[in-house]
Amino acid sequence: MLTLTFIYNIQYFIKTLYINDIDNLEENMDSENIIYQRKSIRSFSSKKLSDNIIEEIVLDGTRAPSWENAQPWEVYVATGNSLENIRKQYMDSETMGKAPKSDLTIPGLGEWSKTSISNVEVWGESVKEAVGEKGTSDPEMQNADHNLFYAPAIVYITANINASEYSIYDIGAFGQTLMLAAKSKGVDSIPAFQFVKYPDIIKNVLEIPDNQKIVVGIGLGYADNSRLNNILTRREPIDQILHIKK
Ligand SMILES: Cc1cc2nc3c(=O)[nH]c(=O)nc-3n(C[C@H](O)[C@H](O)[C@H](O)COP(=O)(O)O)c2cc1C
Repeated sequence: MLTLTFIYNIQYFIKTLYINDIDNLEENMDSENIIYQRKSIRSFSSKKLSDNIIEEIVLDGTRAPSWENAQPWEVYVATGNSLENIRKQYMDSETMGKAPKSDLTIPGLGEWSKTSISNVEVWGESVKEAVGEKGTSDPEMQNADHNLFYAPAIVYITANINASEYSIYDIGAFGQTLMLAAKSKGVDSIPAFQFVKYPDIIKNVLEIPDNQKIVVGIGLGYADNSRLNNILTRREPIDQILHIKK
């Protein structure tokens, strides 16, 4: 009985920390801080993005740091007809049950810590809070997923096929810089495996050379008022990941 009470208290304590984290997030989202205003958008409106704004956002992204300033990235943007072409081929592939095979290795549960596995579960709960009991299996969510979240533009960041792990790190920095730059201009975003799971289709439509691998796809556009965009994700309490030693 004592053990049960102890476990209950621990769970309650952890939950409280997460709840505080959401309070903290909501407070910060109201502030001018774009780091807190950015969140992944899974239902974009039909409002288009001009080529100019796409160029400005990518230009800002290039201010990301990289190993010896190597800037080991290239950027291919699908929009208009090329994106509709990709979307159609993706739909057909989904219908045929084609197996996803991104250029980067898909992480397996086996390589994650218990904490990461638990964070993924907590993410599932956040989805349910916004979308309803069905969570990621919700038909609206599935539809959005299959329609590439209705994004009016997708930015694909590529690297040389022999790129080192450091180059992939650099591209991560590029991606986040780009998404924050987008947010600062009122443009929403989502990085997604969904965008890169059939690289053969993307390479063919966007004429990406064989010496490039697609590292990430980032959808850009303007959020609509779908409940899919109400997902607020938590972060682990800071003392679980921060280790300062004096
Ligand atoms: C590499 C990567 C791949 C992702 N793939 C998907 C995806 O395929 N589908 C999806 O709905 N979200 C995807 N996401 C978005 C994450 O779920 C999201 O970033 C995370 O839950 C944190 O939420 P936030 O971006 O709103 O802060 C991906 C994020 C990253 C960084």
